Amino acid sequence: MNGFLGSKPVVTTDPAKLEQQAKSKMTPKAFNFLAGGSGERATVDANRLAFQQWKIVPRMLRGSEPRDLSITLFGKKYPTPIMIAPIGFQNIFHKDAETGVAGVASELGIPYVMSMNSYSTVEEVGTASKNNDRWFQLYWPPSDYMTIQILERAKAAGFNVLVVTLDAFTLGWRPWDLDEGYMPANMPRFPNTTPTKVPNGTVVRDVPPPPAGNGTGDASPFKWDQYFSPPPSWDRLKFLRQHWPGPILLKGIQHPDDAEQALTAGMNGIIVSNHGGRQADGGIGSLDALPEIVEAVGGKMTVLFDSGVRTGADVIKALSLGANGVLIGRPWAYGLGIGGKEGAKAVLRGILAQVEINMSIAGIKSVKECNRSVLRRLGYYG
Ligand code: FNR
Repeated sequence: MNGFLGSKPVVTTDPAKLEQQAKSKMTPKAFNFLAGGSGERATVDANRLAFQQWKIVPRMLRGSEPRDLSITLFGKKYPTPIMIAPIGFQNIFHKDAETGVAGVASELGIPYVMSMNSYSTVEEVGTASKNNDRWFQLYWPPSDYMTIQILERAKAAGFNVLVVTLDAFTLGWRPWDLDEGYMPANMPRFPNTTPTKVPNGTVVRDVPPPPAGNGTGDASPFKWDQYFSPPPSWDRLKFLRQHWPGPILLKGIQHPDDAEQALTAGMNGIIVSNHGGRQADGGIGSLDALPEIVEAVGGKMTVLFDSGVRTGADVIKALSLGANGVLIGRPWAYGLGIGGKEGAKAVLRGILAQVEINMSIAGIKSVKECNRSVLRRLGYYG
């Protein structure tokens, strides 16, 4: 992995400058949609502060390279411990969009979690994923008919792992989008707001409009409130279980009791995530939620992690606190905005190189050796 820099990179290798570089290259609307968080971005900040409290304690003379970065999830071996977090509407960032990023992920052997709010279709992303595993993220619609249609279509396109996002049935209060007049104000809380098309005026092609008269109301044109609707109950997860033969993970878990509920509901895994600080305002830093959750359900189900991961060292920290794998969100999307799919690839390769370099320096031979003994929690930030 080392030696990945052949010439001056298109995308900065400095994690601290990546967001700024993206800001300088992207339109304000696109950048604000990507970088923004809920409220005063307190949860975005908390996600970073949570990482800064944990420090790696390097060990010396612990053996030679190569490092083993592989992990096993649902009985399958993956070459690296990272995954692509589902991010919607990637056409807003660059025309390479989802198929471009899925192709890069396939090349690097990193599972690509496809957002249901994608510009590219499931079939297109399925094709771009070639031999890579296909993970599909569902925003669970209120209509069972629509849900079944979507799941069937994802299955037919070769997707085998289902991620169900639970933290966005109500859209967060995101000032950077609201001030741009960009995102629809939340339907349930603002019933008088006119339904708006999704960002960029894109109508989600991935969701076939249900035929009239099926009880879902008028679905043509697509209406935002078909997704952002009252959440179903834990009990309704049975319905998804019935319609999805492969592993199901619940994304957006921050409380150990919810993790236990997921286990009881027969789910195969969870993603400890706060949507990158875009949903709950004043929410707990996602990494701060991880240890308690791992204590509650670790070893009994797959626990993945996201929100706030910016460096290879962050990946090592999340793994050491018990995550079985780590999803990368905004960093590769900044890369996409800066330099298209090659930019996304540069960021992902950089993070992988950092994981390997830092494992090497810290004397960690394999991901299996990432555990609490690698870390100390210190009571200061920075
Ligand atoms: C997201 N996220 C997200 N999650 C999801 O389940 N479905 C989606 O369609 C989206 N869309 C989306 C768009 C944008 C622009 C962002 C930044 C995020 C959340 C995403 O999967 C992940 O949880 C966060 O990105 C993790 O936080 P960081 O690492 O990006 O801070």
